[in-house]
Amino acid sequence: MLNASAQQLVSPATFTISARAAELKAAGYPVLNLSIGEPDFTVPDAIKIAAHAAIDEDCSFYTPTGGLPVLKDACIAKMKRDYALDYSYNEITCGAGGKQMLFNFFEVILEKGDQVILTDPAWLSYVEQIKWAGGVPTCVPTTPENNFNLTAEALKEALNAKTKVVLINSPGNPTGGVISEEELGKIMDVLEGHHALILSDDVYEFFSYDAPQAHVLRLNPKWKERVVTVNSLSKTYAMTGWRLGFAAGPSKIIAAMEKRQSLSTSNPCSIVQMAAVCALNGPQDSVLAMRSAFKKRRDLAVDKLNKFAKLPFVRPQGAFYILMDVGSFLKSGESDLDFCERLLEEHFVAMVPGSVFGMATQGWIRMSIASSEAVIDEALDRLFKFLDF
Ligand SMILES: Cc1ncc(COP(=O)(O)O)c(C=O)c1O
Repeated sequence: MLNASAQQLVSPATFTISARAAELKAAGYPVLNLSIGEPDFTVPDAIKIAAHAAIDEDCSFYTPTGGLPVLKDACIAKMKRDYALDYSYNEITCGAGGKQMLFNFFEVILEKGDQVILTDPAWLSYVEQIKWAGGVPTCVPTTPENNFNLTAEALKEALNAKTKVVLINSPGNPTGGVISEEELGKIMDVLEGHHALILSDDVYEFFSYDAPQAHVLRLNPKWKERVVTVNSLSKTYAMTGWRLGFAAGPSKIIAAMEKRQSLSTSNPCSIVQMAAVCALNGPQDSVLAMRSAFKKRRDLAVDKLNKFAKLPFVRPQGAFYILMDVGSFLKSGESDLDFCERLLEEHFVAMVPGSVFGMATQGWIRMSIASSEAVIDEALDRLFKFLDF
């Protein structure tokens, strides 16, 4: 009954873990959920007030598919502020989250067999979206020593005439890796003269803790014509459930993405659009406060892992995830998913098996640090107890 594409859709193991975590929690068990990648902060008051005002002012009708002009203005101002670049309305589009922007992009860009270069490991939706759009995900190898970051060398190996897109996600999920300015420069040297588009997923752009995020558009503004940036309110303003993402790029691509979106969801929620205007145009102190809280949590978790000393891990430079290598703790025949299930059933701690992100993190687990310091501390205590048993 289902078509071939639908039959290939996979239900990631993360769903199994979070569904079981929710079940245990509902049954009254002391579950600590460190599986999800969403900030535990509340939405800043000014943004909530703007949403209320939008309701009161009957901002309740269809809007242009890619967003109200006032929202595009706010995105344009953001791109000017953060990248010193001038974008126009037809180079900006908005939709229901960064995920929809990425989906629209792959759908309008990829022909059957086109190659998209990304890293192994990578956020799991990329691979599925690329395949759904008919493309071929080419996941290049990375190493834990290099925070699983994309390198110029690995890119050079993989790049060929079929490469249509190179995806950069820095700070990245699931790795917390941040590509240095020097390496990004080398990556750009490799891409010089090649026709590939660059898709820059910047949803974690402000969550870089040791150095500011390096970006292709800041290194070479002339690349504006070959770069599509995807962004979102989800992480930056703790608005995961509100669903508002935006993309900036060449007008031809943006127009096609809007046409594609008009066939499915039409415009993003009108009320959320007005809240987004407030988020993007207002003071950004909530973002800075969140960043320093995440940095503190990162430092706390890293200190604790260093003291335990038995569990290899990668010190994240950004985003809010820590990858830990549990390979030597697996029982015979046990997978990282089995390990996560045992950890959840026996100690009520939910973490994500690394294998969902790629081969390189098979035998690893990912912990989210988007929870309070107390929760992170307790979750690590329970994990260490589990490992020491
Ligand atoms: C790397 C990355 N890109 C994009 C997204 C999409 O976020 P949203 O659709 O909530 O904007 C996520 C969410 O976890 C992510 O981790």
